[in-house]
Amino acid sequence: MNFRKPKGTKDILPKEISKWHFVESVIREVTGLFNFSEIRTPTFEYTDLFKRGVGTETDIVGKEMYTFLDKGGDSITLKPEGTAPVMRAFLESGIYGEQNLHKLYYLTSMFRYEKPQAGRYREHTQFGGEILGSDSIYTDVELILMAKEVYNRCGISNFKIKLNSIGKPDERRNYIEILKEYLKEHLDELSEESKKRYETNTLRILDSKELGDRKITDSAPKITDHLGIESKKRFDDVVNELTRLGIESEIDFRIVRGLDYYTDTTFEFVSSDLGSQDALGGGGRYDGLIEQLGGKPCAGVGFGSGIERIIIVAEKNGFTFGMPKNPIVYFIALNDDAKKIAYSAALSLRNNNIACDTDLLNRSFKAQMRDANKLGVKYVYIIGDDEIKKQKGILKNMSDSSQIEVSFDKVRENIL
Ligand code: HAM
Repeated sequence: MNFRKPKGTKDILPKEISKWHFVESVIREVTGLFNFSEIRTPTFEYTDLFKRGVGTETDIVGKEMYTFLDKGGDSITLKPEGTAPVMRAFLESGIYGEQNLHKLYYLTSMFRYEKPQAGRYREHTQFGGEILGSDSIYTDVELILMAKEVYNRCGISNFKIKLNSIGKPDERRNYIEILKEYLKEHLDELSEESKKRYETNTLRILDSKELGDRKITDSAPKITDHLGIESKKRFDDVVNELTRLGIESEIDFRIVRGLDYYTDTTFEFVSSDLGSQDALGGGGRYDGLIEQLGGKPCAGVGFGSGIERIIIVAEKNGFTFGMPKNPIVYFIALNDDAKKIAYSAALSLRNNNIACDTDLLNRSFKAQMRDANKLGVKYVYIIGDDEIKKQKGILKNMSDSSQIEVSFDKVRENIL
């Protein structure tokens, strides 16, 4: 029987892993620069958390969750997104009350039963950041800057930052009625998906990718023209601050996001290098979410970005992610006693933080030498019958082929 990986998943093979390590190290570096702390939550949660936090009418909760009953009869869901679990942990752990401001990040697998295509997986890895406890416009700006810094350090420059404000809940409710009134005239012309969304998730019609829908919504009333004075000013302040900092962005009324918790600013980083799944990352404010999950009112803003998409765009930009780290020394041992000596010497180098390798296949000198060349090591250390008699191996420098005799316990002193 042949086994295949489940549809929409991927294996990250050794030849690709250095890209992942690179992006992960950039994320750790940049989150450090912005003073974010990592938070890790379980891979699965009780299903109700997502129903309550993300919204039952959203695609994520309505169609895409991996939900099952466990043996105890509890409904469990593999996390499709990170914000609701972080809020749950935030409330449950009590860190909520410890200080006024929390800057948290995560890097973890997410699961969504979507139709797989380029850049869209059923398990993807997401880097996300959340700032809790402040509604300062600088929290929106800081997350946008942090994501931008990660992209730039991964060699990505061809993206646009698209911004919108979907206002406070009552402003949004009011706008949705205006939008519905406008769309009523065009209901017959909308795609089947958008027709379905008309009653339950009207805003999402604005981000439909169907050309026919877009033609209709091009002339639809814009939410930014229907915000209250405070929300309008807040949004203008975010846009102006980004401009002052020299960050280019554009206002796009289609950035309504697919999750129910958003309020005020919403944003997406889009890249033409991603094709139809063009969102490199996205996020926004969610000032009502914590209250909705049972906490005291607490402002929040966050974003998420798929690592797979970062790698796709970085590669299309010709980014090389640096070279994988090779071992420095390869031990060539030509008999059983030599193997024991080589193994001890290798262990001693490893204890001193020097990467090295030995032959584990009992191969010939030639084959071991080929392996060393393939690995791109700086030195080989050769031990055969003569070397055991002399108690000295041959240390060969691979860059100039020079070689010297070195005692078994003095390899470290003679390299680098
Ligand atoms: P989201 O827009 O659903 O937001 O996902 C964030 C990012 O995750 C997307 O822009 C994309 O890069 C990546 N992503 C999502 N689904 C897939 C998939 N099936 N395959 C590959 N990549 C994918 C959220 O999840 C929010 N929790 C973000 C957030 C945090 N908002 C506030 N805080």
